Amino acid sequence: MDKKIALLQDKIKQANLGGGQARIDSQHAKGKLTARERIHFLMDEGSFEEIGMMVTHRSTDFGMEREKYLGDGVVTGYGTINGRLTYVFSQDFTVFGGSLSETHAEKICKLMDMAMKNGAPLIGLNDSGGARIQEGVVSLGGYADIFYKNVQASGVIPQLSAIMGPCAGGAVYSPAITDFILMVENTSYMFVTGPNVVKTVTHEEVTSEELGGATTHATKSGVTHFACSNEIEAINHLKKLLSYMPQNCEEIPLQCPYEAGDESRLSLNTFMPENASQPYDIREIISTITDADSFLEIHKDFAENIVVGFARLAGRSIGVVANQPAYLAGVLDSNSSTKAARFVRFCNCFNIPLLVFEDVPGFLPGTDQEWNGIITNGAKLLYAFSEATVPRITVITRKAYGGAYDVMNSKHIGADLNYAWPSAEIAVMGAKGAAEIIFKREITSAENPEEKWIEKEKLYADIFANPYRAAERGFVDEVIEPSQTRMKLIKAFKMLENKVVNHPRKKHGNIPL
Ligand code: COA
Repeated sequence: MDKKIALLQDKIKQANLGGGQARIDSQHAKGKLTARERIHFLMDEGSFEEIGMMVTHRSTDFGMEREKYLGDGVVTGYGTINGRLTYVFSQDFTVFGGSLSETHAEKICKLMDMAMKNGAPLIGLNDSGGARIQEGVVSLGGYADIFYKNVQASGVIPQLSAIMGPCAGGAVYSPAITDFILMVENTSYMFVTGPNVVKTVTHEEVTSEELGGATTHATKSGVTHFACSNEIEAINHLKKLLSYMPQNCEEIPLQCPYEAGDESRLSLNTFMPENASQPYDIREIISTITDADSFLEIHKDFAENIVVGFARLAGRSIGVVANQPAYLAGVLDSNSSTKAARFVRFCNCFNIPLLVFEDVPGFLPGTDQEWNGIITNGAKLLYAFSEATVPRITVITRKAYGGAYDVMNSKHIGADLNYAWPSAEIAVMGAKGAAEIIFKREITSAENPEEKWIEKEKLYADIFANPYRAAERGFVDEVIEPSQTRMKLIKAFKMLENKVVNHPRKKHGNIPL
């Protein structure tokens, strides 16, 4: 028996070395951790249990039968993160560049099946040269198997992807289907075709980093939700993200301990600028109202005219969606609508109540927006809010103009409670523009058109630049002092915690894509 145990220990040692010490050194020299080191930092100490350590590939072409590594380029298993069961796969770049073989894919699929059956989140740590070139179509089939399971798991368990090396070609589509992507600056990239193919086809000269690095995808494309400065930061973000989520769609997120105290926030009564055109940073309102240091912003550097992220209110997880007056006056455009819509849908999938702060002057005009489908994209946000059944509350801090008023979680599309601050202006458009249209004849025929315009602007503002017309109709449930907002929200979300909505039976809706 001793010999047999020694053989086992030898194999485990071999598996732990992946593609060998030289390749591990080369990985470290690139500033990257190995697949196992990443798992070590991600999971609670001693909790990780590996599955499939002895798996090897079955390929026999190109002399591959002579080159086999235990585990075949991916470490798969389960353990806990902050005490909660989580499944993880971590691609090992030291084995055939982490490339995906038939067996590598089978290991990931097996893990996904377990995560689904047992209702726990799945984290993928991606570091791979793509399809195992020596295996051809078998490897492509493996990708498709994973994509299919990603889709089946979507909305059932949270799926998170961290990109910690190359992720190119078909490989990008598994992370793309998952709920959140994190990338590491300078050591990771994602693209459908690399710089060489780009040069051949479009004659563009571009580096990997410019084409698909973390900064590119965090700012230009919005493909990644986070650009982290190193792998440890990415791992810590994964842990933090998970803390706001339940294990699966049947559960609610864990409530953090919270001691009730003075919930008034007096500074908010003097926060709003006197001039309604003056910008302010909505993040200041979010962090004043939610629990201290609880706000985790998502997609921070993409479509900055809307702010989305997780926070806690009296210890409970909430999803925050807020127009950002400090960027493009908080206007809604294609990117901000798509960004917010996806976030709203995630929160709805996983029973995370939604809190909306509204200060929106409308949709962004222009050919760029119209030709790039602001109609379809804006409809995504409208659709996402309308179908959401989680508790939903809106606070109108200032402007709620035009169609954007309807879209931003208005009562009309199913919000449970809408509050407005006394500074709210709920109208079809701003007073100046409105006066110009409806009093056009009077203004142009006046002796002093400028004066007339100001007079009519004031008239329109007196009637609509306030929250009371909407409150008279019940479109706003209550006009509140800003300082009371946190207290009101805590009570309201508690009141809504057992909310039930039954939509008509259907296969699924047809969100405008
Ligand atoms: N299939 C099989 N082996 C692969 C592979 C793949 N897709 N990608 C990389 N490898 C192997 C390399 O042969 C090399 O093996 P070795 O350690 O025995 O020398 C090892 O992985 C590391 O690759 P290397 O090219 O030395 O690393 P790098 O950091 O310089 O470059 C890539 C990384 C990903 C840019 C580069 O390997 C590459 O372009 N791979 C092919 C990508 C691709 O076209 N994939 C198929 C489309 S999905």
